[in-house]
Amino acid sequence: MCGIVGYTGTEAAKDILIDGLKRLEYRGYDSAGVALERAEAASASGCALDIHRRVGKVAGLESELACLDTASTCGIGHTRWATHGRPSVPNAHPHTSCDGRIAIVHNGIIENFAELREELERRGHRFASDTDTEVFAHLIEEAYEGRPADPATGEQAAPGCHDLLAAVREACAHVVGAYGLAAVCADEPGVIAVARKDSPIIIGRGEHGSYVASDVIAVIDATRDVVVLEDGQFARLAPEGITYTDADGAAIEPAVTHIDWDIDMAEKGGYPDFMLKEILEQPRVVRDTLVGRMGPAGELDIDELGLSLEELNLIDRVYVIACGTSYHAGLIAKNLIEGWARIPCEVEAASEFRYRNPIITPSTLVVAVSQSGETADTLAAIRDARIKGAKVFGITNVVGSPVARESDGVIYTKANKEIAVASTKSFIGQVVSLTLLALLLAQVKYRLTVGQVRMLFRELGDTAEQIQWILDTQTDAIHAAAEACCDAHSALFVGRGMGAAIANEGALKLKEISYLHAEAYAAGEMKHGPIALIDPGFPVIAVATKSPVYDKTVSNLKECEARGAKIIVVATEGDEDIREIADHVIYIPAVRDAFSAITATVPLQLLAREVALMRGCDVDQPRNLAKSVTVE
Ligand code: G6P
Repeated sequence: MCGIVGYTGTEAAKDILIDGLKRLEYRGYDSAGVALERAEAASASGCALDIHRRVGKVAGLESELACLDTASTCGIGHTRWATHGRPSVPNAHPHTSCDGRIAIVHNGIIENFAELREELERRGHRFASDTDTEVFAHLIEEAYEGRPADPATGEQAAPGCHDLLAAVREACAHVVGAYGLAAVCADEPGVIAVARKDSPIIIGRGEHGSYVASDVIAVIDATRDVVVLEDGQFARLAPEGITYTDADGAAIEPAVTHIDWDIDMAEKGGYPDFMLKEILEQPRVVRDTLVGRMGPAGELDIDELGLSLEELNLIDRVYVIACGTSYHAGLIAKNLIEGWARIPCEVEAASEFRYRNPIITPSTLVVAVSQSGETADTLAAIRDARIKGAKVFGITNVVGSPVARESDGVIYTKANKEIAVASTKSFIGQVVSLTLLALLLAQVKYRLTVGQVRMLFRELGDTAEQIQWILDTQTDAIHAAAEACCDAHSALFVGRGMGAAIANEGALKLKEISYLHAEAYAAGEMKHGPIALIDPGFPVIAVATKSPVYDKTVSNLKECEARGAKIIVVATEGDEDIREIADHVIYIPAVRDAFSAITATVPLQLLAREVALMRGCDVDQPRNLAKSVTVE
């Protein structure tokens, strides 16, 4: 995901920016760039800005800059993970104003960028990229230099403020969305203006100058005393010091936080492992995946679909093909696509699909789900499906990946780079994206009204807070449940309906990181075989949330209880009755059954992690597994 670094002081800015960008590489990105003040051009009236941008690794940018003889001591840098616009030099940051005298780097998403761009173009601004970010550069330019009258809106011309920080504040007032922003201006050498809303920014003062970054890892060598900027706060960095203001321009004095993490911990955001960091990011993943998806008239907006609504309306069969955790996201999608859109949906392991002869017609939609976007079996299945005439739709986390390139359309999950091998936040991003697809299919098939889609979309968004509630309140219960099963040799995960699909992901998480054998079974099938495994103390982990099959699931659990199983239940908050059969209960907030996978999976991820840690396993890099499987 995108990263920001900026420096102003007495040292060579070029080296500091490249070092910082390298530190941010672990987040994943597709292009990188810097804006450096050209010190040689400095005069009383200002300097000039040099912009360097490259697609690919920071090392490429570094080689380009190696040839640049510069004494610059102020600049900003960025690693970009494409959201609006493909990875390319024009889309890479920094972006500049029309006259090139203001340059900015930005993390986050500007939701109203289309209307802002239209307004700015009407007032004569020329855009050089497809990004949402670029509107910021032009908005700041207008606030700085002055705005012409707008005959379309009748707005009067406004004079410029000629103060970079004030111009940034003014620009932010027009933007809806999330931003961490750093800006430089050729007319104010040595100054970096910074803003933040819903996207992290830290600021620090070191021996040789002032630093800004989106992640403390980028500046940890220079300073360990940092200000974590809060939403609505602004900063002005200069070689001699830093000042802070609120949105009205009033001076503030934010608290300084001392960072005592080592580099390894800093990369993990201060958490002991990437898996925990990524689990805790899941509320954000839900929010980011939904940003901009609901149009003003309550219609779903998935413009990168690659299929017209008429083509979608003709779809009469869906296959979801995927591997591993992504396959489990498909199991959830089957329930939603069949339940809402009433289209038959099959979920298949890509490795099986490619060697079968599935029934495919031009009205078949194949949905390929892959976090990495490069899993060999999934790619081969995509190629096969397209040869057979299916429309293929990809759901992936990696922009420009083979799955994205080879599909007719794509939804990008906004999970950002996932580092732990066991997939967690990507799964949540996939389920949210598949839920959007199911809603869209139901909308075009007129199975759900616009009002129903809007209501379901709102409830889908609510799962972000529901996940947060689980993360905030259930860790003790999860720890106790983990202690109860960490010494077992085997465990069964059970559920019915949506619960059965969730159980599959719970079992996979546990086995892949703790090496404890775990199997998932539809709870109603227990009596046809697996119940023979149960002896006193055998762990049975159930998803028994309040759903239409709750009572049936409880009956199945009673059969396990009668044979001495140790029962751990993921249940709905307020369900006290479940304690009669459960040894341990982990609660999730009450949620519509259709969305229960998004919340109920989270405690199972945490449970797997706790058990793995208790068993002394490396939760980020389990033995024998790879994050991206590019072989058959
Ligand atoms: C590997 C990973 C799993 C992942 C699976 C599918 O097995 O270890 O975590 O679910 O590949 O990967 P994909 O990138 O296609 O989702």
